[in-house]
Amino acid sequence: MRAHALIFLGAPGAGKGTQAREVAKQFSIPQISTGDILRDAVKKQTPLGVAAKAKMDAGELVPDEVVCGIVEQRLGEPDCRNGFILDGFPRTIAQAQFVDRVLQAKGHGRPQVLDIEVDEELLLKRLTGRRTCSACGEIYNVHFNPPKVDGVCDKDGGKLLYRADDNEQTIRQRLEAYHRQTSPLIDYYRAQGLLHEVDGNKDAESIARELREFFARA
Ligand code: AP5
Ligand code: MG
Repeated sequence: MRAHALIFLGAPGAGKGTQAREVAKQFSIPQISTGDILRDAVKKQTPLGVAAKAKMDAGELVPDEVVCGIVEQRLGEPDCRNGFILDGFPRTIAQAQFVDRVLQAKGHGRPQVLDIEVDEELLLKRLTGRRTCSACGEIYNVHFNPPKVDGVCDKDGGKLLYRADDNEQTIRQRLEAYHRQTSPLIDYYRAQGLLHEVDGNKDAESIARELREFFARA
C-alpha cells in the first residue's frame, strides 16, 4: 500500500477533527492534531504548554518553529511509517514548505490535501456547541450531534468538556488568523494539483461517506 500523507485543511470548526478521526480508523494511521498536542501540553503545564497558552487563549497561531518542531518529532515515531493525517497543520506558507521538505526527506511523496469548506455563520454555532470527551477525545455538538446524556460521553462515560478557546471573542480571532495566515494555503496546494475540496456544510455522516468514496477512487 502506498503510504498516505494526508493534510486536513479548513477553518476553525470546519470538521477537520471529526473527519480525521474516521479516516485515521479507516486506514489505521495516526491523526496528528497540533491543536490536541498543544492542549495536552497546556494541561500538563510543560514548558511548551506554558509558552503556547497565551497565543492559544488569544486565538493566535503558535510560532512556526514551535509547531514544526512538534510535527517533526511526531512524524519520527514508528506508527507514522505507513502514513498519517496532519489535522490543523500546516497553517502558514512557511509550515507548508516545511512539510514539503519533511515528506520528501522521509520518502512519503506528495500529500493529498482535503480542504473542508464551511459557511462562516455555521462555524460559530459548531464551535460554541462543541463538547469533547476528556477520556477518549470523541467530539460532540449540543446542536448537531448531542450525547445521549448531557455532559457524558456515549462511548466511555467520560466527562464532556468545553474548549477554553470556544468563546465568541476568541473564535473571532481564530477565524481572522485563519483568513489571514492559513487560507493562502488553498491556492498553494491548488497550484500543485494536490487540493481536493470538500463541501463541509453537509452533515458529518454524508461527508464521511464522500471521503470514503474519494479514497476508494484515489
Ligand atoms: P486547533 O485545535 O487545530 O483548532 P482549529 O483549527 O481552530 O479547529 P477546531 O479543532 O476548532 O475545529 P475542527 O475543524 O477540528 O472541527 P471539529 O471536528 O472539532 O487549534 C487550536 C489552537 O492551537 C490554534 O488557535 C493555535 O493557537 C494553535 N495551533 C494549532 N495548530 C497550529 C499550527 N499548525 N500552527 C500554529 N498554531 C497552531 O468540529 C467542530 C464542531 O462541529 C464539533 O462540535 C463537531 O461535532 C461539529 N461538527 C463537525 N462536523 C460537522 C458537520 N458536518 N455538521 C454538523 N456539525 C459538525
Ligand atoms: Mg480540531
